Amino acid sequence: MTTQQTTTGADRYVPTDAADLAALRSAAAGCRGCELHRDASQVVFGRGAPDARVVMVGEQPGDVEDQQGLPFVGPAGRLLRRAVDDAAIPVDQIYLTNAVKHFRFELRGRRRIHQTPDRVHIAACRPWLVAEFAKLRPRVIVVLGATAGQALLGPSFRVTRSRGVPMPWPDSAQRVGDFPDAPAELVATIHPSAVLRADDRDVAYRGLVADLTVAGRLLTRGHP
Ligand code: URA
Ligand code: SF4
Repeated sequence: MTTQQTTTGADRYVPTDAADLAALRSAAAGCRGCELHRDASQVVFGRGAPDARVVMVGEQPGDVEDQQGLPFVGPAGRLLRRAVDDAAIPVDQIYLTNAVKHFRFELRGRRRIHQTPDRVHIAACRPWLVAEFAKLRPRVIVVLGATAGQALLGPSFRVTRSRGVPMPWPDSAQRVGDFPDAPAELVATIHPSAVLRADDRDVAYRGLVADLTVAGRLLTRGHP
């Protein structure tokens, strides 16, 4: 969805004739669809096997991801990998990406403090997510937290209300993407950073693993 306010959106930067994910990734390096590219070090595109059947969608790259150019390589990523393991989802079945592909932060002194992306950034960046889905055609989409939920399910999405229950790919998202046969099911859960911030980390972690286990089970089931 392009908006004509502060951003023009990623649409015009997403090649319609991209052969594969690698072609999308290199095109994303040139994206100027919103202002976030200006202060970030580099774009952080998704990564994983092109035939992965699970796509996990986070919020945006963090400080470490921004420096390394890879998603989920910082503390939240380490926790997520452990949770994926505990949920018995094979790693080679997973493609990791983010709703927003440049790091949004605020400088305090020399520290870069994470800032949640605004709705305008989520909308601007969504064409990249849609393009990734179109190439991957995943069986299961895991929504990690509120930002990913808003990108895929709209502004009324609430993690607490929807987590851990498989949902069909909703109509609103179908119109955003181009999924002729809409094969995916979606499972929402909390963001791994929320586990790191939780008062009771063990409880939060177990909740994350339980939701991921639900997603993992969908893989062993056939299509509805
Ligand atoms: N948090 C995210 O949402 N994505 C990353 O890639 C890293 C941390
Ligand atoms: Fe483009 Fe997304 Fe980066 Fe904005 S955040 S410049 S839309 S890749």
